[in-house]
Amino acid sequence: MKTRTVNGLKLAFVDQGQGPVLMLVHGFPLDHTMWNGQINPLGRHCRVIVPDLRGFGASDVTSGTTTMAQMADDLARLLDALAIDQPVVLCGLSMGGYVAMEFYRRHAARLKGLILCDTRATADTPEAAAGRRETARRVLEEGPGFLAETMLPKLLAETTFANHPRVAEVLRQTIRDGSPEGIAAAARGMAERADSRDLLPRIGCSTLVVVGAADAIAPPAEMRAMAEAIPDARLVIVPDAGHMSPAENPAAFNAAVLEFVGKLSVES
Ligand code: MLT
Repeated sequence: MKTRTVNGLKLAFVDQGQGPVLMLVHGFPLDHTMWNGQINPLGRHCRVIVPDLRGFGASDVTSGTTTMAQMADDLARLLDALAIDQPVVLCGLSMGGYVAMEFYRRHAARLKGLILCDTRATADTPEAAAGRRETARRVLEEGPGFLAETMLPKLLAETTFANHPRVAEVLRQTIRDGSPEGIAAAARGMAERADSRDLLPRIGCSTLVVVGAADAIAPPAEMRAMAEAIPDARLVIVPDAGHMSPAENPAAFNAAVLEFVGKLSVES
């Protein structure tokens, strides 16, 4: 992995391939490895930049609360550090989608396209926010092991557990290896995130909305409503996949992304 210092901290990232820039932003509490099924196939057609968000993977950890805005600004500064000034395609899954929507709010001119995967536009309810703060407390006390066990059943489709158990194993290990401080800070940050429903009708770039057919966290009906609220959006439902659609069905996911990026490149 490469590293750059941005906003006073070291960010680690994969930077592979040439062509239109496609940045892939991971979910919670994961790291860039959740995109392992994308890096080589998409890197043959695009310049794929895949960061570990602050607090995750090989990037520096900041304690307290990490807001979606801080993560979005880290990504903008990373593009600066790489001297990328042409508009890019930003793809975020779940928490990465919260970061992508915040990036749109703060840096819209830097975007040629958005890919929102298995994510939600709503803010947390007070109960959900309290649950996040409890998660933060517990992870600091016990470490991330319990999170792997409570989250995994919700992350993957039953067909993935049955047919691709290795996907579950890799995710479990990533969560177990995570930094308690980084995970706690992001959980607190998600609890504070803005409601983005008012943003959706104002998204002015082409958008691809992708969801696993069996996503239990951001269900297809909710993602369909998100796509309908965005002026220039297309919805793709990935079969045989839950919340981690890129890892569960990389062939279908990658085909949808390549078609979207290809169309944007022809238009520009
Ligand atoms: C994720 O996959 O990033 C999480 O499910 C996001 C969340 O907990 O809201």
